[in-house]
Amino acid sequence: MASGGGKLTAFDADVRADVIASIDRSMLVEAAAGTGKTTLLVDRILQAVRSGRVRLSRAVAITFTEKAAGELEERIRSALAAELHRDDLTDDARRHVRQASGELDRAHICTIHAFCARVLREKPLEAGVDPQFAVLDPTADKVLRDRVWREWLDGQAAAAPEVLTEALRAGVGAARLQETAFALAGAPELLEDEGFRLPRPERTREQLAAALPELGREAHDIRQ
Ligand SMILES: Nc1ncnc2c1ncn2[C@@H]1O[C@H](COP(=O)(O)OP(=O)(O)OP(=O)(O)O)[C@@H](O)[C@H]1O
Ligand SMILES: [Mg+2]
Repeated sequence: MASGGGKLTAFDADVRADVIASIDRSMLVEAAAGTGKTTLLVDRILQAVRSGRVRLSRAVAITFTEKAAGELEERIRSALAAELHRDDLTDDARRHVRQASGELDRAHICTIHAFCARVLREKPLEAGVDPQFAVLDPTADKVLRDRVWREWLDGQAAAAPEVLTEALRAGVGAARLQETAFALAGAPELLEDEGFRLPRPERTREQLAAALPELGREAHDIRQ
């Protein structure tokens, strides 16, 4: 911030103004905590609404946490209210802002999971999901995961497959196994389509050892 004529101005005020004004362009704003990202987003939404380019009921503002979504909605609400008190608005802009105020409850200002749930609930057939589906809350999610894990482990223990026996013998405890399983469950892209299979190294230890001198020579040549 820099002082000028008694009023504080951000040193990057021109960039901020550009982000707000250029609603025709996509923008990625990356900035440290508390530097004004939410303020910019609210101003940008307001600019889009005021100009009549965007209906608030058709806008989407997505956050990661419920808290951030609540904060964003509240800030848009008060920004719209403050806007209506301005005396320099054109009639059109005032009409757009008033309309947006009435549409705020229908605006998609929510978390990414709430937004996805909303889309799936609107189009369950197209998405191939049960229209009665519910989003698991974190507590129910944990209870379900723990139950599935216990049942799986009991089944595995009864069948005593080689890989599990091998892991336990190698000192990988049940807690570590569970941790790994949950981490993989949270990153399904790591799992191959037909199930998780750890690729075996193609070369044997002997072949790798035999290749070492050659690698050493190449490394030496590169260093030259
Ligand atoms: N251009 C600006 N000049 C002066 N103060 C500003 C400016 N933009 C935002 N602020 C103020 O800075 C504070 C933080 O703003 P804001 O909440 O928008 O930041 P943020 O980057 O979203 O924060 P967080 O990382 O916590 O989400 C607020 O009090 C806001 O009023
Ligand atoms: Mg913020």
